[in-house]
Order: sequence, then structure tokens, then C-alpha cells
Amino acid sequence: MMAQKRILLVVGGGIAAYKALDLCRLIRRSGLAVRAVMTKAAGEFVTPLSLGSVTGDKVYGELFSLTDEAEMGHIELSRDADLVVVAPATANLLAKMANGLADDLATTLLLATDKKVLVAPAMNLRMWAHPATRRNVERLKADGVTVVGPTAGSMACGEFGVGRLAEPADILAAIEAMLQGVTALRLPEGAWAEASANGPRPLAGRHVVVTSGPTHEPIDPVRYIANRSSGKQGHAIAAAAAAAGARVTLVSGPVAIPDPFGVAVVRVESAREMQAAVERALPCDVFIGAAAVADWRVAEAAEGKLKKESGPRPPLALAENPDILAGVAGRSSGRPRLVIGFAAETSDVVPHAQAKLLRKGCDAIVANDVGLAGETPGGVFGQAANTVHLVTREGVESWPTMGKQQVADRLVARIAAMLG
Ligand SMILES: Cc1cc2nc3c(=O)[nH]c(=O)nc-3n(C[C@H](O)[C@H](O)[C@H](O)COP(=O)(O)O)c2cc1C
Repeated sequence: MMAQKRILLVVGGGIAAYKALDLCRLIRRSGLAVRAVMTKAAGEFVTPLSLGSVTGDKVYGELFSLTDEAEMGHIELSRDADLVVVAPATANLLAKMANGLADDLATTLLLATDKKVLVAPAMNLRMWAHPATRRNVERLKADGVTVVGPTAGSMACGEFGVGRLAEPADILAAIEAMLQGVTALRLPEGAWAEASANGPRPLAGRHVVVTSGPTHEPIDPVRYIANRSSGKQGHAIAAAAAAAGARVTLVSGPVAIPDPFGVAVVRVESAREMQAAVERALPCDVFIGAAAVADWRVAEAAEGKLKKESGPRPPLALAENPDILAGVAGRSSGRPRLVIGFAAETSDVVPHAQAKLLRKGCDAIVANDVGLAGETPGGVFGQAANTVHLVTREGVESWPTMGKQQVADRLVARIAAMLG
């Protein structure tokens, strides 16, 4: 019975070690028992006391401890468990496991176990992308180890890419599936990045152009008209497309978030610069216009700073900006196979998106209600979560509220399916 199953959790020394506490809580809440082993480095990030209080058990860490060996030796630790889980699995732990090293309690029990092993890696994106880590993960998979995550997103180190620990709920889903003997795991939503980085790369050989962020339309050399777009959604899409194997060009307006890993980034300020950069980036297979491009610019931006003292308040005459999305969708030659736009609406989200789909001639619109997250002015702008509807000529899919990276992963999966 599920309630009697026992998990042996090895906690590695990474910044995500604190999430092991959440994982332990979830494991116990689901009726499983959990016992934890920490590496020495893990002790720099979480204390045995906090881990012990969420597992309700002693926490093990020393290989050469007379008391521990007498009470529960390194061989018994895993013999007593139904499944061994390593979360977070550091690059170092993966390397040791792949090579059969056993120089502390964690690695010794991992070498001594005959139980199934699940690893949830978490590390800086460059450590994850390093050929040595890639080799080690492949070796572990060939040895029968199951890997969940990592996912893409912004990291503690301030960078953006693949390397985040899979969500504890997704790790629990993998644990439950393994305990039930499910060998072909249904991939949890966030595990897409890993699947695509190491398994099938559904966008391999494709060129994807993504626009992201706001545009700044100058009034004079020091002032501009802008909007609240943070670029989080567009950047997440670029990262997800790259993780799915695409060559990605990201044309980004001014944003305060890091560049996604493995993506060619072109930085622009105004709508007209963005249009020129998109034209240069074409041809492509898929164009995703996620940027919040200003509809209007100041017709004649002043060359010098407008001064309060120099006369009456200057009128701001506006001129319409180029419609980048409609321009790409309407190309008579070299039109991308898929042209996808975004619609930020505050009311009648779906009808507006359906009208936009037809007006712009694109293949899909990702529509979101930017008035939804009501506590902050600007709603969904800059927030981590998004509630979207995917509007195509075939119909409307309303997705549940999810993180922007998950929206990106799901959109990329849908794009891969549409390309066939
Ligand atoms: C602040 C800090 C954060 C770190 N975060 C990670 C991480 O997320 N993933 C990782 O693989 N290594 C990370 N490291 C490096 C590991 O701590 C180091 O490789 C250590 O030897 C791992 O030991 P272990 O695998 O025995 O736990 C970090 C180091 C420091 C100082």
C-alpha cells in the first residue's frame, strides 16, 4: 500500500536545497514516509534540524559515524527504502553517481543501492549545459536512473535558462509514478525543458523569431512613452523554444531581466527599430510577437530637451507605428509557417482576440486578461503567473492560471504539434 512506502531523500548542496523542505512536506502529506540524508555541502544551505523536523526522523550525514552505523548503516539506509530520490541533485553529485564514486554517505549509499533512483537536478544553466554534465546525465539515464527537470526560468544567480529544480509537486508526481511502477512517465508540465534538451528536440532545425518587452517611443532625448511590459513572457518563450532545439532570435525592447541562455538577442528601443530588427532576422519558421509594441509614437520627437521655461506646454502629436505582426503575417513571399501574436486586453478578452486574429492575418493569438491580477496597477504585467486563452481559427483553448515559463513551455509544445 502507498501509505507504507518509504522514500530516502538525498539532499545535495545547491541553492535549491531549501526546496527539499517543501518536497518532504508534500511527500509526507501524500502518505509516504521520508528519511533524509544530506551531503556536507547541503548543510551550508539547510540545517539537519529543519530537515529533521519536516521528515519527522533523524537526518543522516556522516559515513564514519559509529552511532549511525550501529543504528542504521549506509547499506541499510537504502535497503529500508522503496525509492531513492536525489533532490536537488548537484552537478557534483551527478558526476559522482555517473562515475561510481563513493566518498561520503550520500554517494556511498547511491552506489550501494539496488533500488530505483530518481534525480532532480538543479544548477546554474552553464553547469547544466556543460558537456561533462550532459555526458553524466546521459550515462545515468542509460544506467536506469530517472531524471525529472530541470526547468527553464530565472535563477538565483540572476541568469535565465534551463537549470531550475523541478517544482516539488512535479517531483512528487514522478515519485508516485515510479512507486506505481509506471515506467513511461507522463512529463510534468515544467519538465518539458529537460525532455527537449535531452530527448526529442521537436523544434530542431527551425528558426524561431520572438519579440519581447515594451518599446520606448522618444518624446525628446530624455523622455519617452512606454508601457508596463516586463518581457518575462516573451523571454520565457524564447528560452522554451531554444530548449526545444530551435535556433532563436529574440528581438527585445528595453527590459530589466537577463537574456535567456542559448538565444541570439537583438536589443532595440522603439517600434520602428523593432520592425527593422525583425525584418533583418527573417526568414524564420515561426514568428511570435510577444512584445507590447506601442501603437503610436510622437510624430516629431524634439532634438533637444523640451524646457518648461521655454513657452507654452508643447502639444504631443502622435503618429501610428508600423504594425509588426500584421506585416509579418501579410508577407506575400517568405511568410513564416506560423505567425503568433499576443493580445493584452482588459475586457472581452476572447472576442477581441478573435477579431485580432482575423484583422492581422496570423495563425494564433495568445490572449491574456491584463486586468486580472487586480492588486497591483497593471495587473499581469511583471507578474510571474499568467492566465491565457489560445485563440486559433479552429477554436479557443482556455488554459488554467500558470507560471509564465509554463505558459511558454505549453505554447512551444503546441507550436511543435502545429508544425507537425
Ligand atoms: C552559493 C552556492 C550555491 C551553489 N548552488 C549550486 C547549485 O544550485 N547546483 C550545483 O550543482 N552546485 C551548486 N553549488 C556548488 C556546490 O555546492 C559544490 O559543487 C559542492 O561541492 C556540492 O557538493 P555535494 O554535491 O556533495 O552536495 C553552489 C555553491 C555555492 C557556494
